[in-house]
Amino acid sequence: MVRATPFLLVLFLALGLTFPHLQCILGGTWQNNLGSNMTITTMDENGDFFGTYNTSVSASQQKVLPSLMLGSQRLPIKEKDITFGFTVHWTFSDSISVFTGQCFVDEEGKEVLKTMWLLRSRVEGIKNDWKATT
Ligand SMILES: *[C@@H]1O[C@H](CO)[C@@H](O)[C@H](O)[C@H]1NC(C)=O
Ligand SMILES: *[C@@H]1O[C@H](CO)[C@@H](O)[C@H](O)[C@H]1NC(C)=O
Repeated sequence: MVRATPFLLVLFLALGLTFPHLQCILGGTWQNNLGSNMTITTMDENGDFFGTYNTSVSASQQKVLPSLMLGSQRLPIKEKDITFGFTVHWTFSDSISVFTGQCFVDEEGKEVLKTMWLLRSRVEGIKNDWKATT
């Protein structure tokens, strides 16, 4: 995922010139290569945060709606290469997703999030447990 707002990016690049050790700050809006958007609106001093995740892809028959995300990052908050995790509580399906990731500053000075995720679908009964997590 990369920062969504070109204006912010320019701002961060400008700051990067002043402060060569550009930090990863998770707050704000991010977009992934599929066009999904994530906005981290609130981050507390413990590194706990929440926001919304709007996916561009879904296997659900339901209309996609922005979903609540709740996460936590390692401290200190303004640090390069920090690790984080979050849960997305899908508003339009019975599923839940967890992500883990790390924030990097690439060679061009841009902040990039590298993440992996697991999706748990709700299945009928324990005999279907085998197919519930993808
Ligand atoms: C993500 O944001 C971009 C830019 O605002 C918008 O064009 C796109 O439709 C959004 N995608 C989703 C899934 O909300
Ligand atoms: C969320 O994403 C869907 C497409 O996946 C789009 O239709 C909808 O407009 C988006 N909502 C917002 C608030 O960006």
